[in-house]
Amino acid sequence: MVASGMLFPGRKIALHLLEIPEFSAQIEGLKMELEDCAFLDVAEIKVGTDPFELFRDIDVAFLVGAKPRGPGMERKELLQANGNIFQKQGQALDQVAKKDVRVLVVGNPCNTNCLIAIHNAPSLSPKQFASLSTLDENRAKSIIAKKAGVMVENLSHVTIWGNHSSTLVVDADATTIEGKPLQNFVDQQWLYNDCNQRVQQRGAEIIKIRGKSSAASAARSSVQAMRRLFCEEDTIFSMGVYADDNPYGIDKDLVFSFPCHCNNGSIAIYPDLRISQELLQKIKLTERELIEERAAIQHLLG
Ligand code: LMR
Repeated sequence: MVASGMLFPGRKIALHLLEIPEFSAQIEGLKMELEDCAFLDVAEIKVGTDPFELFRDIDVAFLVGAKPRGPGMERKELLQANGNIFQKQGQALDQVAKKDVRVLVVGNPCNTNCLIAIHNAPSLSPKQFASLSTLDENRAKSIIAKKAGVMVENLSHVTIWGNHSSTLVVDADATTIEGKPLQNFVDQQWLYNDCNQRVQQRGAEIIKIRGKSSAASAARSSVQAMRRLFCEEDTIFSMGVYADDNPYGIDKDLVFSFPCHCNNGSIAIYPDLRISQELLQKIKLTERELIEERAAIQHLLG
């Protein structure tokens, strides 16, 4: 998707593709295939296994490389296996990437992996980092649109609070369909319960059916999220961001998905949203889970 121009339409790009040493032959093979695609906008393809070499002077980073979860696992069970990857990659970004690099963490558990990368990149601003919650937002929009019998484009914003996990919180309280409250079309309790649970479990459902975790939908939402980091959207959207200046009372040293918007050319947490008691209770649970995840990898925070 990146090579075919979905990320920066009409701009030349240099792709630097990082793999682990065990898969160095596969990444060479991928490079050959990308060359054979003869994409008009791909000016350079570099592959390798050393982030300190591959991250040199990069403008954007998609941190997707991590051990994926299998059937029956929760994403947080990957913390010990994947935490070291994000420590090293955070250090490499800090030392060799451009000083205004933008980083999207996709590898799971993405919120806490993003926190690890932030802590290991002290010369970069935490605002340059985000974790993916666009996939959950897209899942919620698709489920809600189907239930309401409308197209996704007819829905206004739907946002995700918290962790990319089975505690995430779908917020459609202020969502409208062509200007009318969503609650005129679907039942509020369906939104708070069934819909929320379906989004929470969608990743696991895909793994059960496919035998592998999501790929196409994760890729599409990653490109969409990176474009959002460049402030290309004039809407309210979901993004996992560092919580240090959040106005909602969430622990400040977490990467937490909030409703965000673009403010003077950079993304910011959307202020002043009214949150129902029912949603607030769920938001506190997802916050607690992220605090527990942080405690489990405290040694990687430097
Ligand atoms: C997803 O939500 O599909 C991905 O985060 C993969 C997973 O483990 O669920």
